[in-house]
Amino acid sequence: MIDDIVDGFAFGGDYNPEQWTEDVWIEDMKLMNRAGVNLVSLGIFSWAKLEPEEGRYDFTWLDRVMNLLTEYNIKADLATATAAQPNWMSVKYPQVMAVDEKGLRYTWGSRQAYCPNSLIYRRGAAAMTRMLAEHYAAHPALAMWHVNNEYACHVQRCYCDTCAAEFRVWLEKRYGDLDGVNETWGTAFWSQNYSDWAEVMPPRYTSAFRNPNQQLDYDRFMSDSILSLFIAERNILHQVTPNLKVTTNFMPLFKHLDYWKWAEEIDIISWDSYPDPHDPLSPVMNAFDHDLMRSLGAGKPFMLMEQAAGRVNWRPVNGMKHEGLMRFHSFQALSHGADAVMYFQWRQSRRGSEQFHSAMLPHAGEGSRTFSEITRLGAELKALSALAGSRIESQVGLFFDYDSWWASEMETAVTAAYPYVEEPLHWYRSLRERNVPVDMVSPKTDFSSYKVLIMPRMFVIDALPASRLESWVENGGVLLLGPMSAWLDGTGAVHPGGAPGPLRTLAGVRVEDVDPLPPGTSFSVDFGDGRPLAARNWREEIYAEGAEVLAVYADGPLNGGPAVTSHTRGRGQTRYVSFRPGPEAMDRILDPVLERAGVTGLLETPPGVYAARRIGVDGRSRLFLLREGEGRSDVRLPVEGFTDAVDGRQVGQVLSLGSWDARVLNEPD
Ligand code: GAL
Repeated sequence: MIDDIVDGFAFGGDYNPEQWTEDVWIEDMKLMNRAGVNLVSLGIFSWAKLEPEEGRYDFTWLDRVMNLLTEYNIKADLATATAAQPNWMSVKYPQVMAVDEKGLRYTWGSRQAYCPNSLIYRRGAAAMTRMLAEHYAAHPALAMWHVNNEYACHVQRCYCDTCAAEFRVWLEKRYGDLDGVNETWGTAFWSQNYSDWAEVMPPRYTSAFRNPNQQLDYDRFMSDSILSLFIAERNILHQVTPNLKVTTNFMPLFKHLDYWKWAEEIDIISWDSYPDPHDPLSPVMNAFDHDLMRSLGAGKPFMLMEQAAGRVNWRPVNGMKHEGLMRFHSFQALSHGADAVMYFQWRQSRRGSEQFHSAMLPHAGEGSRTFSEITRLGAELKALSALAGSRIESQVGLFFDYDSWWASEMETAVTAAYPYVEEPLHWYRSLRERNVPVDMVSPKTDFSSYKVLIMPRMFVIDALPASRLESWVENGGVLLLGPMSAWLDGTGAVHPGGAPGPLRTLAGVRVEDVDPLPPGTSFSVDFGDGRPLAARNWREEIYAEGAEVLAVYADGPLNGGPAVTSHTRGRGQTRYVSFRPGPEAMDRILDPVLERAGVTGLLETPPGVYAARRIGVDGRSRLFLLREGEGRSDVRLPVEGFTDAVDGRQVGQVLSLGSWDARVLNEPD
């Protein structure tokens, strides 16, 4: 809930007043008031201006901005300004700059080029955070803290000597001694044995495949190193302003940080969403990300911290957002549980790297289409204030796992043509088409309340979560296990006997071999009615060990062999799907699972229309209806008595939605 930050939904954006003269600030305030802005993210890239030389801090300009915000009744999501170190630091202490895998040191002149383990950077960031926290602790405009910005967006991995030394410390903590490292990394292979800690390195540029376990550990180590930067700043902020929430903004489908681990440290989850208007898959990916973000925050409302009011400027081709699309994206966020609609940035820059990136107030000014859309949206959000804090209820959990992502996409993987995220997204898409709400889960999640769990490509799984799953199934849960699951244990070693490792008895199947296919190849499966249904990407040679066979391969080298199985255990069931189903095969798999578990969609809607429900703190529920794409669709509501949540008017039982339309309805009691 963000009611301790602003009343109702938060609405605003990154505010970079240092790009403008002070007379423009006054105009900003007035226009922000007109648009209904109640929160701005301030000072994200202001380090150089706040500490113009080492140890000399100058907050006078920021004081004036904070005072103006107070005067105009706008709150600040104040940044710690540590997202880009000042040039003087990079020049004076070159070791602050990150180094790539080939040993090339980054240069200043852009942003975020610091090494996450640099003590100089850490010292400077901590000092800046403390100075800001102490200076603004009692300021009436201060509502929350924004640490850094999109950690690891540009520099995901640093390979410098400092990181190498820290990596050794991290490994020693994890494995105790070098023997532990040698064993876990399997260094007996290819003569990679380490006899001295000094020989242990980050997985730098080398002759052929780098050791996969070394890489997996480096992924974990880097995620932890960068997380410790966040924690260091957060601890200072919690100490000085214990009542304020601290966030840092996450990114869409971002591989390089283990967001589950990060989320445990963050007071309120926030993220930046930039769906590509040219990509027909972007609405479903955006929906997936929203659900992931809500789930990372254990179901609590999250913040859409950044979106674009129009074009971005960092794709090869940056499509515009036609009228209505930005509103659609905003309502999409709300429909998945967001309590904030924020943008990059408030006023469009005249100079600098993002001068062609859109903003709430574009170059064309206050008379523009964009600004009028922003103003109308601000008014709608205000009218919907009562929805803030409301939650989503889901009965289906979908596993999403960073270890599995990293480990199954190594350079040594069995296919490069089947990216990890395609698999969870594939299942998600089908659930979404049925308007079945979904939470993402991790092996650590308490999944006891879910009726269905889907495990797509859970490549890495340990015995412990596997035994928790066993009891959950025994108690009536229906588990859907997807292809490429349970190959490795948490140390990165293949499970004895192969996949699906510790889930073998539960699933009642054994995987003998797999058949990765080139992109575009398809094959067919038969669900027992002699009607072959399409499948693609991947198939597995599996053998039933107690499971019933529900479908078989209908052609190719596995012809006649099991393709889908079902195994009952206690009151529950595990289904194993050994390939990537096409749409019809997906229906044959998913529908019986949902039916058996008693899970139904929220509403039947025409294609392209999606429904979501938020349940308020007062128990009242609101139905969201979103229409993706051009054209008109009629949606039949289950009963009469719905009213529009924005203007309170009665709506008929058949609701007509236009292109990229979004409506929020109060459900009848
Ligand atoms: C985000 C970033 C912002 C801005 C924006 C432009 O990734 O956090 O600072 O660069 O992209 O789309």
